[in-house]
Amino acid sequence: MAAHNDVEAFHQALRSSRRILALCGAGLSASSGLPTFRGAGGYWRNYDATSLATVRAFRTDPGMVWLFYAYRRHLALKAEPNPGHRALAALARRNLDFMCLTQNVDNLSPRAQHPSSQLKCLHGSLYDIKCSNESCDWIQRGNFDDPFCAALAPASVDMPNGEPLPLLDPYHRVKHITEDELPKCPKCHRGLQRPGVVWFGEDLDSAMMMDISAWMNAEPLDLMFVIGTSAQVYPAAGYIDKARKRGARIVTINPEAEDEAEMFKVNPGDFAFGKDAAEYLPLLLEPIIGKPNADGEFEMS
Ligand code: APR
Ligand code: ZN
Repeated sequence: MAAHNDVEAFHQALRSSRRILALCGAGLSASSGLPTFRGAGGYWRNYDATSLATVRAFRTDPGMVWLFYAYRRHLALKAEPNPGHRALAALARRNLDFMCLTQNVDNLSPRAQHPSSQLKCLHGSLYDIKCSNESCDWIQRGNFDDPFCAALAPASVDMPNGEPLPLLDPYHRVKHITEDELPKCPKCHRGLQRPGVVWFGEDLDSAMMMDISAWMNAEPLDLMFVIGTSAQVYPAAGYIDKARKRGARIVTINPEAEDEAEMFKVNPGDFAFGKDAAEYLPLLLEPIIGKPNADGEFEMS
């Protein structure tokens, strides 16, 4: 059997694959300059980034949680999709039986022209705004206001010469932002507006989950890409085992994928590439999507 990182063998497997699933995480956008959650870069001021992504944190200090998301909105708006996003979008255009699940809320896959019918944003989007009142269904899609509101302007500052943003320095005091300074829901006038992302302890959109189950159960799977995710957050990570049970060979692309401690996850017939997704996805998908043109775009099929 070919080695787990044999590109030729992978290309052969890819050519004979039709139904393909992908699960993407923060590592897909790492080369676009967006920090991941766990490991280096997983801190924002002195907060563990994941501790700010909860309903409880928002109830306790909505201003601080909003600053964190306002900063991420600003950063992702300034970032550009990388060749990894573009390669996956090109695969989707070439293969209508390819479905991509992303945990990323940065909007970089849609901006890379990934067809929306083949992209499920499991954890929502930084650019959707919802109401924090659980009994209110107000939602506004595609809000790219930057700054989001006057009180959040410190999160949208661009520093000259790459100097660090004062907001990111935990010793730099930020003025406390009160609830009155944050916009309220225009429908119920009670809840605060909040980012349309899924926080820890919240459910994923049930209609989307049903769509994914229906897609997975329709026919067996051939391949599943696991791209730039630590696969620690459920239900997203659960799709890996589900796909395996549906017959998929697993292809992991993550700088840590070939570390000794990770190799137990690689079953016979699986692939693991310990590489940057932005660099390696175009190479791995080349038999289907071809080479990019001078602008870094893949032909529209
Ligand atoms: N290419 C591929 N993978 C990379 C790269 C890169 N250039 N750089 C880092 N990685 C890998 C890291 O090795 C790590 O395994 O990306 C992974 C990122 O893992 P996490 O930070 O845990 O991000 P993710 O898996 O997307 O987190 C899942 O957790 O906080 C929540 O809702 C948030 O959607 C997020 C979820
Ligand atoms: Zn409301």
